[in-house]
Order: sequence, then structure tokens, then C-alpha cells
Amino acid sequence: MTESADTATTPPLPVRTADWWREAVIYQVYPRSFADANGDGMGDLPGVRSRLPYLRDLGVDAVWLSPFYASPQADAGYDVADYRVVDPMFGDLDDAVALMAEAHRHGLRIIVDLVPNHCSDQHEWFQRALREGPHSRLRERFHFRDGKGNQGQEPPNDWESIFGGPAWTRTKNPDGTPGQWYLHLFAAEQPDFNWDHPAVRDEFASILRFWLDLGVDGFRIDVAHGMVKAEGLPDLGSLEQTKLLGANASPSFDQDGVHEIYRSWHTILKEYDGQRIGVAEAWAPTLARTANYVRPDELHQAFNFQYLATSWQAGALRTVIDETLDAMREVGAPATWVLSNHDVTRHTTRFANPPGLGTQIRTPGDPELGLRRARAATLLMLALPGSAYVYQGEELGLPDVTDLPDEARQDPAYFRAAGQDGFRDGCRVPIPWTVDGPSYGFGTGGSWLPQPATWAGLSVKAQSGQDGSTLEMYRTALAVRRSHPALGAADNLRWLDSAGDVLIFERTSGAATFTCTVNLTGAAITLPVPGRPLLASAPVQVTAEQAVLPPDTAAWWTTG
Ligand code: GLC
Repeated sequence: MTESADTATTPPLPVRTADWWREAVIYQVYPRSFADANGDGMGDLPGVRSRLPYLRDLGVDAVWLSPFYASPQADAGYDVADYRVVDPMFGDLDDAVALMAEAHRHGLRIIVDLVPNHCSDQHEWFQRALREGPHSRLRERFHFRDGKGNQGQEPPNDWESIFGGPAWTRTKNPDGTPGQWYLHLFAAEQPDFNWDHPAVRDEFASILRFWLDLGVDGFRIDVAHGMVKAEGLPDLGSLEQTKLLGANASPSFDQDGVHEIYRSWHTILKEYDGQRIGVAEAWAPTLARTANYVRPDELHQAFNFQYLATSWQAGALRTVIDETLDAMREVGAPATWVLSNHDVTRHTTRFANPPGLGTQIRTPGDPELGLRRARAATLLMLALPGSAYVYQGEELGLPDVTDLPDEARQDPAYFRAAGQDGFRDGCRVPIPWTVDGPSYGFGTGGSWLPQPATWAGLSVKAQSGQDGSTLEMYRTALAVRRSHPALGAADNLRWLDSAGDVLIFERTSGAATFTCTVNLTGAAITLPVPGRPLLASAPVQVTAEQAVLPPDTAAWWTTG
């Protein structure tokens, strides 16, 4: 591929070693939608491998791959039927090993997704549990229960699935009569494991070792706050149904018992050289609860969903940044920052819409405004102390695809919630690499979700070398972040006075000072020049003393 050929001779980046994860920029690859090497319309591991030079040149430190394991794809691979097998649609185990080896040659680390809360209903244990009937010992590895009511016709408790509808599905006995129910916090095709069972714990310790032995640098742990449920699976009663990001405590999530699992995983990760890490996808109700997952003997990072969910407003952002730094300082873990991922409306589109609509939005809003804010939000995020996550395509400024036809949709949440929720397909549309071709260079065989006709100009090809393009802004930002002495993990952020919807902070190291200024208002503002301009999300006018920041613009400055 042309991008690879152009850059094939670039020397590898210097690899950060000591505590590399504390300041890493980690790029999320959604394998279905990144690059399709075999032309079947679905991205695959050889496709990812072919694009590694692009990621190296973008300047990220590590790549997190969403699941590529054997799966019936009821939830795009988050329903795993065999944790040690690569699904043929993505390639095979040799492709995974080759991808890791090549990434390492480029100085990129590889983090894989681990899905321990639930498996696929096609997993061998679950299939046997069904086949063997109510007395099967295999049922103890899941949450099987008799139903309520005189015929067992009511679900065992009142929990709802995160994807909508009841969190329980009734089984049929081997003789065809109605049988027990099983718990699934997500889709019916995703039965929850019972983590009180030692066989489940042993199996996941073995799966961790399987991938660590193959050379992975870490795991992103799916639904890391879900594995342990409150004793006896109590009814919610008058409590609000659990949402992924809510302030309510819940019997199905964030139970204290889950931390024992992470302490045992910490020991396993430590047995391996090279600082292998665990990253929690834990939608805990507060940042202080999130910090519990990254105590010194547990995992290394936890996604900062409170930050992701914060609207484009100076006060709210400053509060969440301070609360994050405080909470993580308590436990000695790095802060993390994230704006987009495969589960939420892309931040370009979130910021294009009025605040308060949540993270599943189906309206395009004002795309120009959204992109302007998204670019500013990126410079703000990449200037903060700690580690940052970039979701594929955000470096191109891609909007969410809000007008996907209903028949193209695949998100199980869309179907379980009868089209009222579950718009995650919009952020999963394959990304454009070239200005033409059947799928803008994604592959030769089209694309599993339709791409908008307007994406040529957003492609990697169109933006590469274009001054001021979103892609070049990311490249420059990541290069500055890597080289500026005051940036990185150190908890050295100091707010400077600013009025109204404006954020200014400084980070220093020795004589070097880095300043980030963000204008979140809809009007230009004038500031005293804080130093030499490094980068801005929109053209800034600078005179000897004053800088004029256009609306919704962030700029980086340096002295020393
Ligand atoms: C996580 C994943 C999401 C998936 C869910 C169930 O939140 O990020 O994509 O649907 O878990 O596995």
C-alpha cells in the first residue's frame, strides 16, 4: 500500500521503556473497520499489519485492538466463543503473532481486548450447560436460576440488560419444556460468567498467560466492573435501572469483590518482563471509585469516562480534570483521557449537538462547529498529564454517520431497545484511506457498513501533507508531546487565571514551560502572548504582545 511504501524506511521511534504506560498515547483499532486485506468488506489482522507504518508515523506508543477472537459476532466480537482462537474473518493466530512482532519492530506495543464478564452463548461451556440440563455442573459457571412464579415463568430478578429488555433469558430443557433462566447483563447471546466459581478464575488466568506468552503488552479489560455481582442477585426494587455511566450504585456493577481478581492478575502480569499492563473499562459511579481499579497492586490504567462525558464547557472540564488528577494522585496511577471509542458517538458529532444529549446521538448537529471544537478538545486532551486514548478515525476528524439505513445497522442494542438507543454503528464505519476506490482504500471489496459519499476529503491521502488538516494537527501534536520536556506523565499542571469560558494552564519542567490556552466561547478572545506558538487548532493571530484566539480554539505555547 502506498502509505506503507512511502514510510518503509523511516527508522523506528525510540521506545519508551520505564513505566511507558504512564504517558502513552494508545490508539484504538477497531479491527472490523480499520483495513481489509482480503477484500471481503470486513477489516482483518493482515490489514492492521499493513497499516502499522501509518500508526508509527502518527506518533502513538501503543495500539489497542478490539476483539478478534472466534465469535458469532452477536455483539461485534464482544461475544467470545473461544478465547484462544482468532476468528477466521480476521485471520488466524499466525497473523496475530506476526502483527505483534511487526508492531514491536516499529516500536509500537500491542494491547488486546479481554472479555471476562461474559462469553458467547456458543462457548463450549455454555452449550454443554444447556445440553446437560438443570443439573449440569457447568451451569454453576454461569448464573442459571429457576424463574419466579408458580411455573417459573418470571425472570429471577428485576434487572434489565444494558442493551435494553430483561437481563434474563429463559432456556429450554433438553426435552423441549421451558427451563431455567440465565443472566446476561448485555445481549441474550452474552451469558455472564459466575466469577465465584474457581474454574472461571483459573480459565481466565490461563487465557491471560496464553496471550502474554505470545507477546501481548497488555489487556484492555471489557466491563471490568461487572464480573462480581451482589450476593444473592437482589432486586433493584425502587432503585434506578443500571446504566453504564451513572452515579448510582448497583448490585450488578462495581462490587468491591471484583478487586481481588485484579490483585491476582497483577501478580500474573508482573511475572512477565516488559511492563505488561491491564486497563480497566470500568464505568464506576465516581472517579474515586474508578481509582480503586488502579491501586498499586491492581491494574495500571482505567478509562476516564467522566472526562469523555463532559460537555464543551470550561467550568465542567476544569472540574473533571482536577477531580481526575486528585483521584489518581491518591493511588499513584496516571490519569487517562479519552474522547471517543467504539461505543459512543464520535466527539466531533457530540460537540456538534447541544450538550446534555448523552453519548448516543443520532443527529448530525452543526458539523463545522463540531469539528472545530473536536480539534480544540484534542489539543486540550493531549496537553494533560498522563496517558491519552485516540480512537481510529478521530485523527481524520471523522463525524459519526448518523444516517445509516436501519437495514445496515448491526448494534444489538439498537434491536433490543427497538431503535430508541444503540447508535454505536455510526462510529464504527470503516475509515477512509484514499480519495477513491470502492471503499476509500479500506479494502477492495466494499465495506461492511456503508461509508458516506463525502469522505474522500477526510481520507488519510487527502489530509497527508496538508497544512492545517486534522491529521497533520494530530501528527504535530503527538510529536510535540513526545519531545517537549514539560509534557508527559508528570502531575505538573497549574491553572492560570482566566475569565469566562476560557481555560489556561501551564506545565513546567526545569526552565521549560508549556502553556495550553483554550477558548471555549463562540467569539474570538485576546490574550497576552504566553510564549512562542507551537501549534493551534485554528489559525491564531500573534503580535509581539497579544494573541487572538478564534472561537472554540486551543493553542499550545512554549518558553525556555
Ligand atoms: C463493552 C464494550 C462494548 C460491548 C460491551 C459488552 O462496553 O466496549 O462494545 O458491547 O462491553 O461486551
